[in-house]
Amino acid sequence: MASNRTFTMLKPDAVEAGHIGAILNKINEAGFRIVAMEMTQLSTQDAQAFYEVHKERPFYGELVEYMTSGPIVAAILEKDNAVEDFRKLIGATNPAEAAEGTIRKLYATSISANAVHGSDSDENAAIEGAFYFGKRAQF
Ligand code: CMP
Repeated sequence: MASNRTFTMLKPDAVEAGHIGAILNKINEAGFRIVAMEMTQLSTQDAQAFYEVHKERPFYGELVEYMTSGPIVAAILEKDNAVEDFRKLIGATNPAEAAEGTIRKLYATSISANAVHGSDSDENAAIEGAFYFGKRAQF
């Protein structure tokens, strides 16, 4: 059965451009409930650990550098079929390929500065949510 939670980060480009409010509004309008949320800045160690699965990819260094370049907003979101529905709401990883009306089509500028992260599976949603929020509280 699909889990009802996913994890997101509003990335440094979206935060820097002043899009936090507009993006959270779209998330709420799409029927997601914000269960936990924090604005923070990742250290290099944090970003390396979070993106460990991509460590062998050629863009890993660029990804870590970018994700530590400014504040991000991390959140756990709740809705039926959360992982799949949120990935539809944000659109393709590359904003050039994202569907009209999706968050990345509206707010992302490139494949690395792509405005938002969304978990790609229920398993990763749980791991990623715990990465930020697991130590302080049980949601
Ligand atoms: P995200 O959903 O946060 O998960 C991994 C990230 O790696 C992805 O969003 C992109 O921002 C980034 N990424 C994926 N492919 C590339 C690429 N070819 N070049 C740069 N960054 C990439």
